[in-house]
Amino acid sequence: MENTVISEAAPQNTQASVEVIECTNPATGDSLGTVVVDTSADVQQAVERARAAQKVWAKSSFKKRKAVLSHISEYLLDHTDEICSQIVADAGKTFENALLGEIMPTCNKIAWLIKHSEKHLKPENVGSGILMHKKGRIDYVPLGVVACIIPWNYPLQNIISSLVAPLMAGNSVILKPSEQVAFSSQQFLKVIHQALAKEGISLDTVQIVQGFGPTGAALIDARVDKILFIGSVENGRRIIEASAKHITPVVMELGGKDPMIVCEDAHLEKAVHSAIGGCFINLGQNCVASERIIVHKNQYEDFCREVSSIANSMRQQVPSGPGVTDVGSLTSPHQIAIVEQLVNDAIAKGANVLAGGKRRTDLGQNFFPPTILTDLTDDMDIVSTEVFGPVMLIFKADSEADAIRMANDSNLGLQSSVITHDRQRGETIAKQIESGAVCINDFGLCYVNQDLPFGGTKYSGYGVMNGREGLRAYTTPKAILADRFPLEIPPKLFPVKPLDYEKSKASLQLLFKRSMKDKIKALLKVIGISIKAIFK
Ligand code: NAI
Ligand code: MG
Repeated sequence: MENTVISEAAPQNTQASVEVIECTNPATGDSLGTVVVDTSADVQQAVERARAAQKVWAKSSFKKRKAVLSHISEYLLDHTDEICSQIVADAGKTFENALLGEIMPTCNKIAWLIKHSEKHLKPENVGSGILMHKKGRIDYVPLGVVACIIPWNYPLQNIISSLVAPLMAGNSVILKPSEQVAFSSQQFLKVIHQALAKEGISLDTVQIVQGFGPTGAALIDARVDKILFIGSVENGRRIIEASAKHITPVVMELGGKDPMIVCEDAHLEKAVHSAIGGCFINLGQNCVASERIIVHKNQYEDFCREVSSIANSMRQQVPSGPGVTDVGSLTSPHQIAIVEQLVNDAIAKGANVLAGGKRRTDLGQNFFPPTILTDLTDDMDIVSTEVFGPVMLIFKADSEADAIRMANDSNLGLQSSVITHDRQRGETIAKQIESGAVCINDFGLCYVNQDLPFGGTKYSGYGVMNGREGLRAYTTPKAILADRFPLEIPPKLFPVKPLDYEKSKASLQLLFKRSMKDKIKALLKVIGISIKAIFK
């Protein structure tokens, strides 16, 4: 938004009528400045400007669109340290995670779009079925203005990876980032705008509106053409309800409680490192975090010993630079309170703590260590509620069937993993897990393969983000039916003639009867009726 200003000094005295977001580094507690919240009127105007800009952008060539995306990617690669520092300051995560969890997947997505989007978006000739004199075509028409309402866990990735597919498909985009990362979002908007400016494209084509929940709600109310919502199940429900007002289509990327099944034949070290990575990357603030590790009873003791030995030795401190720590702080003070409450409830009800378990107040306000819990029972909230923090739950399975049952015993179904030495066993289990994706012998990597769609089942949402399906989701597949031959036959249906019904009935048999004998019979009937009609 043009009128969104940011003060990078300490919070200023603001006029009483102007609402601001106080931006804070969650690891150090340092102030990053303030960002002005956009009012409903600001949001409405942003949508109007985006609509005007989109009319021009929709006519742009694929060459131009690819050039814009390429400028974004080049900027990220040429200013990696600066971007990583901004991510780290706003999110409290490590430089390594900023690089590999944010810049890498963003550049990967852009590279995929540059290579593949034109072939998936260009008009597609299709058959014409029984209308043999016609030909069919699908035009992938941009929708208009797409709103992306996004969370805080990957401040750069959530912004850029959300907007590039709708942008490539010819839409303008308005982003509503999380209030928790308003500071860095404002910086990343500059990256996008320099790319648009280089190609002479209106900056209104991509805008950011800043604020809390009500700003997101105002965006839906302002009538956009599609909403991508990435966030909690609870807010997802609110957005689905609000979207009904203008019949706005939505993509819902909600929470997960992903299972990882460790089979009896799994290679122990591989299983242990998959679980550690799957659970503790970005301190578990990951929609596809492997929160539930389901281990075959014959591997259980060894697995628990090895995994807790690694978790207990992980370094945690303020991420002051690359290479200094394995994990940093959590990003949201609200989220750490949820993590703490879920862990305390489980411990009070008898869970066994193999690692972590308590907030590290010695490090700062928002540090929770890698935590491992066993001996879990259904009365503990943590067994069914998404933690979105650094907590691994380990369950013991008596058999493969028992493990699959446990994996599916959840309202959420985003991603899942199975670790086994036997590829066939991996495939067999994968088919039985209820989730949007299954990673065999790895954690959360389905997202990295941009050829695959990314999305959930059950309460994890619907619609997908990546791949051909995720790109075409930002278009209307417009059906075009045109003449096949330069022959103009007027479709004269009226007035109805006496033999029309009988002729149509025979034609129906000719078209749809399965056996050749029936078809020939029907054809003779059609010819007979036609001749009869001539002499009537
Ligand atoms: P959240 O639901 O609190 O907020 C997400 C966004 O929605 C924020 O920008 C927020 O300001 C906005 N919002 C809140 N209320 C709104 C309303 N009534 N109308 C419109 N917008 C509203 O989620 P949070 O805490 O930012 O992120 C954590 C959640 O996100 C977790 O549940 C996690 O699983 C999910 N998530 C899902 C991912 C996926 O791809 N499936 C990826 C990352 C996070
Ligand atoms: Mg922050």
